Amino acid sequence: MPVAIADALQLTIDEGGRVCVLTGAGISAESGIPTFRGTHDSLWSRFDPMRLATAEAWREDPALVWGWYRWRMQLVRDAQPNAGHRALADLAERIPLSLVTQNVDDLHERAGSVVDAHVHGSLFALRCFACGCAHEGVLDDYVDGARRVEPMRCVSCGDRIRPGVVWFGEALPDDAWDAATDAATHCTLMLVVGTSGLVYPAAGLPAVARRQGAIVIEINPEPTALSADADHVWRATAAVALPLLAR
Ligand code: OAD
Repeated sequence: MPVAIADALQLTIDEGGRVCVLTGAGISAESGIPTFRGTHDSLWSRFDPMRLATAEAWREDPALVWGWYRWRMQLVRDAQPNAGHRALADLAERIPLSLVTQNVDDLHERAGSVVDAHVHGSLFALRCFACGCAHEGVLDDYVDGARRVEPMRCVSCGDRIRPGVVWFGEALPDDAWDAATDAATHCTLMLVVGTSGLVYPAAGLPAVARRQGAIVIEINPEPTALSADADHVWRATAAVALPLLAR
């Protein structure tokens, strides 16, 4: 583990500081969940977001969109949290830590973390497309490999149930965004783990932390749009680096 990073974390602990962790798809990669960018099999290399991740796409072909999200939900249900997720849960038991994620999976929670903000929503927070009512019932069955699945219906108004994620062109949920900016504003050290830093406003959170005087550390095997502005970078995967950091 780079000495400068160990020292920065130790200083934060000694001074009673607060850590904010911002995670992206990379932290779930070692659990087998594909990232959005970066490899030939990442989601946006294989699928067109405009046909699958917008309100217009939903209106056009809800069964195609729901089928794609049901496939992603199934991937997450079949996956397990990895050592990176578990290390963050462990760290939060010992130091003041806020966790902000762009991920729509529930692997942080299943590793034992409390997530302060899912800034891009949650796959499993289902709600009605028309009236916004939360869907409390069980998830419909998914036949492995099904491309098109007719969405479930809202018990209040009869419209279709959509996934609880933020689609392109939609605003972030206010409560999650407020919690995320609060965490970034009040931390003394920010760990940026497994994000390409290309999607705003979430990608602006490290700059918010830095403006308030926080040290920013990036953990990512590859350089990103955020690397140049980080105080320290650690070129390692989340499941390798975070357990070392927690230890
Ligand atoms: P990306 O897919 O854009 O970036 C994934 C990052 O994870 C890359 O920088 C990889 O180098 C890194 N990475 C890959 N494997 C890793 C590992 N084992 N450990 C650590 N890092 C690893 O994912 P995000 O930055 O999360 O938005 O994407 C941001 C947003 O773009 C997503 O939330 C999604 C997408 O469009 C919405 O759906 C609204």
